[in-house]
Amino acid sequence: MLLEQLSIHRLRNLAETKLTFSQLNVIYGDNGSGKTSVLEAIHYLALGRSFRTHLASRVINYEHDDFILWGKASGHSIGLQRFRSGEVQVKIDGEKAKKLTELLEHLPLQLITPDSFNLLTGGPKTRREFVDWGVFHIDDSFYQLWGNCKRLLKQRNSLLKRKASYKEISYWDRELVHNAQQLSELRNQYINSFNPVLQGIIERFLPDTEISINYYQGWDNKSDLTQLLEKNYPRDLTLGYTTAGPHKADLKLRWGKVPVNDALSRGQLKLLVCALRIAQGVHLQSLVNKKTIYLVDDLSSELDEQKRQILIAELVETGAQLFLSVIDKQQIIQQTSQYHTQMFHVEHGVIKQD
Ligand SMILES: Nc1ncnc2c1ncn2[C@@H]1O[C@H](COP(=O)(O)OP(=O)(O)O)[C@@H](O)[C@H]1O
Ligand SMILES: [Mg+2]
Repeated sequence: MLLEQLSIHRLRNLAETKLTFSQLNVIYGDNGSGKTSVLEAIHYLALGRSFRTHLASRVINYEHDDFILWGKASGHSIGLQRFRSGEVQVKIDGEKAKKLTELLEHLPLQLITPDSFNLLTGGPKTRREFVDWGVFHIDDSFYQLWGNCKRLLKQRNSLLKRKASYKEISYWDRELVHNAQQLSELRNQYINSFNPVLQGIIERFLPDTEISINYYQGWDNKSDLTQLLEKNYPRDLTLGYTTAGPHKADLKLRWGKVPVNDALSRGQLKLLVCALRIAQGVHLQSLVNKKTIYLVDDLSSELDEQKRQILIAELVETGAQLFLSVIDKQQIIQQTSQYHTQMFHVEHGVIKQD
């Protein structure tokens, strides 16, 4: 996929603009000029949400009640309007979209920011989302399965809070187990096929580091989920929620026996996050021929010149479209000089093509 054009109206501090992108795009400018806001606009158009806030009202320019984005992506026209009231409208090729998820299929997107360590140092949710990104784009049944699991778990938890009998709960558990097993199988298959791609990139990014990646499905893989739900029932009843299931899935990344967040430096962790995200894009393309776009905010954070070089080369190699932000274009000019690069200078919210 390729985001060919983007127009931005009333988003953050950005002046109204219409941008034409190429394969490699660099956005540079001083702190507070609006670089991250440009990436945020692309993210919003691709996913229907920001990566900086859950509140749409923060993204709308202070003086207005809505923002509008319009983009041309691989020939499709995508429009999104978000109001302060919370209402959102999405149009794809002139047709009103029924669900925000219709957006997701058009622009598979990977984001790398200074907070991306979270994937390795934070809770399991971001790692689950990481796995599910891959499964979602590869398998059409994922969305429904995961939706079913979430709905059934919510229902189960409210039964637990009402102190329902095990008999009543077990009636729903049959459907939960059925969906959970299929979902888990998809996640497991995904990680197994993804791992060799990842290892190839790790060899170049972090030579001499043996990183293993293991998928934990959310319950002990030697246990039968139906029996486990029954066994856990007294505890779940006391806690008021379900303690084992696909909502607890996680990825364990280790260097030898040690979790990577205890073993690697911050610079190495950042490279590992980049390797994970690049591997997902490469893998997606090889499986279903969909191209991912990459947003890298504040490229220089935690990376020295040599690491920046490796990262940019690897990203360019994927053939994906890239949007990189830096404060000073000198930080990147050498690394990008051999590629056709479109530079955008942001100054007080005004974006100019170099
Ligand atoms: N809703 C908003 N309306 C107008 N300006 C905003 C809004 N939210 C943030 N800003 C301003 O936008 C500017 C650009 O922020 P940002 O994109 O994070 O800059 P950069 O990434 O270049 O450092 C900041 O100065 C911030 O104060
Ligand atoms: Mg920024």
